[in-house]
Amino acid sequence: MAILSSSTSSSSSAMLQKGIVVTVPVLVLSALSSAVIFFTLSFFLSYCSCPSSLPSQNDAVLAPAAVGGGGDVRSEERISTSQEDIDWVKNLIKSNGLHMHDNVLRKGINPRTREQQLQDLSQYKGVSHYEGEEEASNHTALPCPGELLVEEHHSNYGEPWAGGRDVFEFLAEASQLKPNARVLEIGCGTLRVGLHFIRYLNSGNFHCLEKDELSLMAALRYELPSQGLLHKRPLIVRGDDMEFSKFGPDVAYDLVYASAVFLHMRDELVWTGLERLVGKLKPYKGRIFVSHNIKFCTRLGGDKCNERLASLGLESLGRQTHDSLLFNHYEIWFGFRRIKG
Ligand SMILES: C[S@@+](CC[C@H](N)C(=O)[O-])C[C@H]1O[C@@H](n2cnc3c(N)ncnc32)[C@H](O)[C@@H]1O
Repeated sequence: MAILSSSTSSSSSAMLQKGIVVTVPVLVLSALSSAVIFFTLSFFLSYCSCPSSLPSQNDAVLAPAAVGGGGDVRSEERISTSQEDIDWVKNLIKSNGLHMHDNVLRKGINPRTREQQLQDLSQYKGVSHYEGEEEASNHTALPCPGELLVEEHHSNYGEPWAGGRDVFEFLAEASQLKPNARVLEIGCGTLRVGLHFIRYLNSGNFHCLEKDELSLMAALRYELPSQGLLHKRPLIVRGDDMEFSKFGPDVAYDLVYASAVFLHMRDELVWTGLERLVGKLKPYKGRIFVSHNIKFCTRLGGDKCNERLASLGLESLGRQTHDSLLFNHYEIWFGFRRIKG
């Protein structure tokens, strides 16, 4: 029992017999030191990054996925689709009782082929519109040709447009891509693959050399604006001669790739391109990836392929395959790196 004391000796002695005696100055001093300790501790705790036993907001988001038992937990680093992502969407389809059916006319849904849709657009059928060209263009900041609006160019490569995501996921992980990386695509076409890089990378860090005018129109007049990616300012240059000077003298790429392109080019043009690119690839860490085959090299026969690569300062990293997420298809990739600083 603590007893307040006015420090008069008679009363204190009486009190001493009953319990512990604490004088006023001692009590004030203890209260002061407790307050100092308390404030020091709370200041330290608010600035320290010590683990807390309370779940954070992120823990709460991660928890269901982790409990899902699909294996890995999505971290900020991950780019490719995880087993948990797949399990999640499969469960969602199942829990909603969803199945595929014929896509026929039904209430509120009027399926149209691309051709029909293009016709509808040109006849303004079912589309609210302003009359006359001048009036219409006053309300349309970036008028887009109908063929592009109905996405005819999504069927340009004889394989599903969705395969572009597969290519991105493979290349991003194979090259350990980070948003501040610098990437060059040779023959980016309609940006089937490039869109994913542009979305992921920091502004201005995606470069492309492409020769086909119609593909570039699709990329610039439809894909970039409709995906809200104009602000990413990709540097897209029209050209067919493997000439990279327009990309700047000092650029150092983390990744250069050609998806389904080198097989359409003359072997000597590919070699010219590689020779010009070596100096623009980051030594050792930078990667060149080429899809499908490297006949431009193997056609040389025997050891000549590796010898010619080595004469440029390049080393082959071998072949990898990558499965598509959505259809029964795999892509073959050949990797290279620069071996001289
Ligand atoms: C099959 S498409 C692939 C497009 C894109 N890389 C993709 O995977 O979706 C091949 C592309 O390479 C382009 N191409 C072919 N030869 C080229 C050259 N010499 N220079 C630049 N682009 C070229 C074509 O115009 C076309 O867009």
